[in-house]
Amino acid sequence: MAQNIYDDQAFFEGYSQFPRSRMGLAGAPEWLSLRGMLPRLPIAYEQADLESYQPQGQFELIYSSLAVHYLADFDALCTRIKAALVPGGSFVFSMEHPIFAARGDPEWLSDGEGFRVFALSDYAREGERVTDWVVDGIVKYHRKISTIVTALVQAGFVIDAMDEWSPTQTDLEANPGLADEIVRPMLLLMAAHVPQTKL
Ligand SMILES: C[S@@+](CC[C@H](N)C(=O)[O-])C[C@H]1O[C@@H](n2cnc3c(N)ncnc32)[C@H](O)[C@@H]1O
Repeated sequence: MAQNIYDDQAFFEGYSQFPRSRMGLAGAPEWLSLRGMLPRLPIAYEQADLESYQPQGQFELIYSSLAVHYLADFDALCTRIKAALVPGGSFVFSMEHPIFAARGDPEWLSDGEGFRVFALSDYAREGERVTDWVVDGIVKYHRKISTIVTALVQAGFVIDAMDEWSPTQTDLEANPGLADEIVRPMLLLMAAHVPQTKL
C-alpha cells in the first residue's frame, strides 16, 4: 500500500481548511488553464491507489490534480497510465513544479537589495523529499522537468501542452497572495496523448 498523508486525520483536517478544499475548483487558481487541456467528455470517477491500480485500455482520459509528486516511481506510473488508455486517449495532470519541489522545505530569502528570492538547490538530486506542511514529515518526490518529459515520451506519449502556471492580472487583483507565483512556479500542468495505432 502506498504512503498517503491525506489518510492521516490531523493532516486532512488541516488540508480541509485550504481554499481549494473549501471552495472546490473555484479555489484552484490553475483550474482555467488545466481545464483548457481537457477534452469535453463525460467523466467516470475511479478511486484507487495510483501505485498499484492497473486498468487496461479502457479510458479515453486519465486526469490527475496535484497527486503524482507523492508517487515514488513516475516511470512506472506513466507506463501503467499508457496501458490504461485507449489509442488516442489523453493523460492530463498537474503536479508540484520541480523548482518548487527541489528543496524539501521551500525557503524565501532576501537578496542584497532587499528583494525576496526563492531558494533553489539540489535541483539535480532527484528523489525523496521530506517536508513539514500542515503536519511534519510529509514524503513527496522531486524530479527534473526533463525527467518528467522523458518518462512520458519513453512510455509512448506525445506531449500536447505544458503550463508552468502563473497568475493573470485578474487573478492577482482577486488574490494578491498569488504574487509568489510570479517569482517562482509552484504548479506544472501537462497534457499528453497516446498516438492512434497505425492501420
Ligand atoms: C494536494 S491533494 C490534491 C487534491 C485535489 N485533487 C486538488 O487538486 O485539490 C493530493 C491528493 O493526492 C492523493 N494521493 C496521494 N497519494 C496517492 C496514491 N498513492 N494514490 C491515489 N491518490 C493519492 C491524496 O489522497 C490527495 O487527494
